[in-house]
Amino acid sequence: MLDLAFYKDKRVLVTGHTGFKGAWLTEILVKAGAKVTGYSLEAPTSPSLFELSGIKKDINSVIGDIRDYELLKKTFEEARPQIVFHLAAQPIVRTSYEEPRYTFETNVMGTVNVLECVRNTDSVKSFLNVTTDKVYLNRDDDIAFKEDMPLDGYDPYSNSKSCSELVTHSYLKSFFSAPEAAAVSTARAGNVIGGGDFARDRLVPDCVRAAMKKREIVIRNPRATRPFQHVLEPLWVYLEIAQKQYSDKKFAGWYNVGPDLSDSKSAGDLATMFCDVWGDGLKWVDQSDGGPHEAAFLRLDCAKLKKIFGWKSIWHIDRAIKETVEWSRVYAAKGDIRAEMDREIRAYEDDAESAYYKIH
Ligand SMILES: NC(=O)c1ccc[n+]([C@@H]2O[C@H](COP(=O)([O-])OP(=O)(O)OC[C@H]3O[C@@H](n4cnc5c(N)ncnc54)[C@H](O)[C@@H]3O)[C@@H](O)[C@H]2O)c1
Repeated sequence: MLDLAFYKDKRVLVTGHTGFKGAWLTEILVKAGAKVTGYSLEAPTSPSLFELSGIKKDINSVIGDIRDYELLKKTFEEARPQIVFHLAAQPIVRTSYEEPRYTFETNVMGTVNVLECVRNTDSVKSFLNVTTDKVYLNRDDDIAFKEDMPLDGYDPYSNSKSCSELVTHSYLKSFFSAPEAAAVSTARAGNVIGGGDFARDRLVPDCVRAAMKKREIVIRNPRATRPFQHVLEPLWVYLEIAQKQYSDKKFAGWYNVGPDLSDSKSAGDLATMFCDVWGDGLKWVDQSDGGPHEAAFLRLDCAKLKKIFGWKSIWHIDRAIKETVEWSRVYAAKGDIRAEMDREIRAYEDDAESAYYKIH
């Protein structure tokens, strides 16, 4: 089980801290008492969770491109991190069809640059590369992917993340085998939902935008099935992997991080659940726009994570939607975003503690 107290006074570097997941991760770390350095471009959306929460004043926020090796290296030299989470990426499938070269440069060479910095900074003891469930060769035959299955994403985003995995595997074998070298892991998480995601072409942000404008939600691909989970679920796992492998390399590895199979829902089912919780007569419509290929099925087998970490999912899909709606209502009412994030983090921590207490 994750022990947040471990992070007190630890020097932690987060790439992609201005993004949706990065802002949540940064807030958890700040609350835990870590000394956080963030490295990324400006927030990718406006509004953004990073700006709304005001976390910037509590960390060392460096705005830079992950492709700029010299600036990244300088940031590592100055921050001397003990733990590194790599989240910076171009993460949108449709954007990757429009800008494949930028996507590969950012997601592949960005990972190379981060790994170069990790191997040349002797303070780093624990490194986690955040990839995605889309790294696998997906034949749309509705199998649940296991970690040893072939990596060969279809679209440029997915494939760039498969490459990011392979780059990490090569660096591990080539440069991190000495006992004193940093522990290296990757985490392949499913689709996350939660308050503060303003990205284009993502299901829940589309739902929130439509709900706030009192319009129907347009669903492009209602039958596409994805392993949805609340953003705090994978973040808790990232923090636990980084924590455990810090003192014992046997915990390092490649991990699927997804919800229980019952939480793998179609986009249409998720939209229906969202409308029910939001109320106010909200509805969705099926409007396929004949966009580029996206996988129809995506399911993850998380047995490895369960076996090695005794992991269990804490917030299932209904709770994830409820919390997302709650956050969106605070946002709509121009309320205190950071206080709302802290409420959710506290609630999740309490629920995780009682869930683990009950099983161990
Ligand atoms: N959101 C999801 O459902 C999901 C699912 C699985 C994996 N992931 C992975 O999690 C990570 C974070 O995703 P997110 O949803 O928070 O995305 P996001 O778009 O909100 O954040 C991306 C972050 O990367 C930064 N970034 C982008 N290009 C950069 C560049 N060239 N140089 C430096 N920084 C750059 C952005 O500024 C931002 O801080 C990504 O690696 C993504 O692939 C996300």
